[in-house]
Amino acid sequence: MYKTHSCGELRSEHAGQMVELAGWVHRQRDHGGVTFIDLRDRYGIVQVVADPARPEVGAIQEARAEWVLKIAGIVRRRPAGAENPNMATGQIEIEATSVQVLNQARPLPFLVNKDEDTDEALRLKYRYLDLRRERMQNNMILRHHVVKFIRDYLSERGFLEIETPMLFKTTPEGARDYLVPSRLQPGMFYALPQSPQQLKQLLMVSGFDRYFQIARCLRDEDLRGDRQPEFTQLDLEMSFVERDDVLQLVEGLFTKMVKDILPQKRLLASPWPCLTYAEAVERYGSDKPDLRFGMELYGLNEIFAHTDFMVFQNVIKSGGVIKCIVAPGCAEYTRKEVDDLTTFAREQGAKGLATLALAADGVKGTAQKFIKPEDVSAIQARTGAKTGDLVLFIADSKAVANKTLSALRLLFRDRLGLADPDVLAFAWVVDFPMFEYNAEDQKWDAAHHPFTMPKMEDLPKFETDPAQILSDAYDMVLNGYETASGSIRIHRSDIQQKVFQLLGLKDEEIQSKFGHMIEAFQFGAPPHGGMAPGIDRLLMIFAGEPNIREVIAFPKNQAGRDLMADAPSPASERQLNELQIKLDLKKAEEPK
Ligand code: AMO
Ligand code: AMP
Repeated sequence: MYKTHSCGELRSEHAGQMVELAGWVHRQRDHGGVTFIDLRDRYGIVQVVADPARPEVGAIQEARAEWVLKIAGIVRRRPAGAENPNMATGQIEIEATSVQVLNQARPLPFLVNKDEDTDEALRLKYRYLDLRRERMQNNMILRHHVVKFIRDYLSERGFLEIETPMLFKTTPEGARDYLVPSRLQPGMFYALPQSPQQLKQLLMVSGFDRYFQIARCLRDEDLRGDRQPEFTQLDLEMSFVERDDVLQLVEGLFTKMVKDILPQKRLLASPWPCLTYAEAVERYGSDKPDLRFGMELYGLNEIFAHTDFMVFQNVIKSGGVIKCIVAPGCAEYTRKEVDDLTTFAREQGAKGLATLALAADGVKGTAQKFIKPEDVSAIQARTGAKTGDLVLFIADSKAVANKTLSALRLLFRDRLGLADPDVLAFAWVVDFPMFEYNAEDQKWDAAHHPFTMPKMEDLPKFETDPAQILSDAYDMVLNGYETASGSIRIHRSDIQQKVFQLLGLKDEEIQSKFGHMIEAFQFGAPPHGGMAPGIDRLLMIFAGEPNIREVIAFPKNQAGRDLMADAPSPASERQLNELQIKLDLKKAEEPK
């Protein structure tokens, strides 16, 4: 036994007790011949005092930052005036009676006792040190609590946690597969699962009607702040359910989680708002709207039906839209500020940006001379824009107008501080389109995944108008992020076949890739559905972190590298020989 107590648990009621502690030197200083050390472990920090002139504690004088010490001593109340109200243990200190150095530490590449800005590459290279920092420790602790809450909540409701293989076959979720070469069957490859989607559906066929798993998913895709090549889902699936059964279960889970383990956070609304995909895109320009603030998008085609502003007229004629948002209190923006917004709009793909500033001394803005006064009044009536506001217009295809205005909306959110960081605006988005046309490859893609059930009433549209087919897919959105996706699944092999065919899969391909699914559905597959919340994204939002790397113990960098272990790295000649693999690297693609 190295210790009788943890550093963080000692309080004034322990005064007079002999204790033994073990931990890291968080900070040390000398004061009038006495050495003070803050000793740290996972549970907190406590002040240790020693007179280095006494031989049994003399070792304390050599101790440097992050050395590992074992200390024995007596807990005593700090002298009046020396208490530290900012420290949980601030009423007491330990008067050391023995000090033993368990290990030394080299000078560190960065300080871990401060949350100072450190180059991210350095943080990732020395991740095990970065993880000593309070912020990272808190994130890992929160992660544990969130996952434990999920396990308890679902177990109490009859769910079984079942593990599924990592070495499997392609499961399309829209990303590239990571492949693993087989040594026993040279030339063959496993695919690492992009999600356990097929396996959880097969578990439904097996009769495990309530399944979940804290599941690792692997996807070879371009990385962003909210995307890692390997990430974790709460994967769940239920039999004999309709959409609302799944939504209610997940809503109940997160509502209670927030109440129990995130007391500093507040739900925007309970029950959560539910928008259709069409409504979300119309009102917010996005299928993952941040509902913590208003600034909705308004379509203005009727108001501009007879405009002589050529830009708007041409867009209406060619079937496009004119939409706007209102930035509150921004009427006095300078020319330069408006130009910067225009540049931003262009970067989103818009051809331009028109503005109307409702300044106190009259209407201004780049579109002022093109818009008739009665149209200005109509716009105000429609949008609620008032004196002092800036109206921003995009005239373009529906897709570009929505994308650009949605991005501008988020820009103003951050610039004007419109969203309360302590509010969690959970919402459902339902009734997604089943298919998206992929113009590049000239084929239909599944908007969610190919196992999603199309709306029964839309089945005839397979032959006539696939773009209009809606599905029983749903997303959980939170503060502008997609935090979960799911759907009611196809459980009939004839419908599954129809979907694969529309996606352009040849019969042999359907057979070789998904034959096992089609076959399984012929052996009494129950109606089923489920979803998969992304644990990393949720934690990022719960912890108020800017990206998901901060809530993952050992993440990859933006280039998909593990900087600590330096992976990926070359395989040895012998390994490649065993796998019967010969490399044929293009110059540009050689590993860095
Ligand atoms: P989907 O592919 O939408 O659905 O993923 C579900 C959720 O997982 C999270 N997520 C990610 N998190 C971090 N990095 C990534 N690269 C990443 N990709 C996805 C998101 C997302 O909402 N099998 C289906 C679910 C189902 O139908 O039940 C699926 O995986 O939060
Ligand atoms: P122009 O007639 O091209 O000089 O444009 C007049 C105003 O309309 C300028 O402020 C442009 O930035 C703006 N504008 C141009 N194209 C668009 C567009 N597609 N959507 C919104 N505003 C635009």
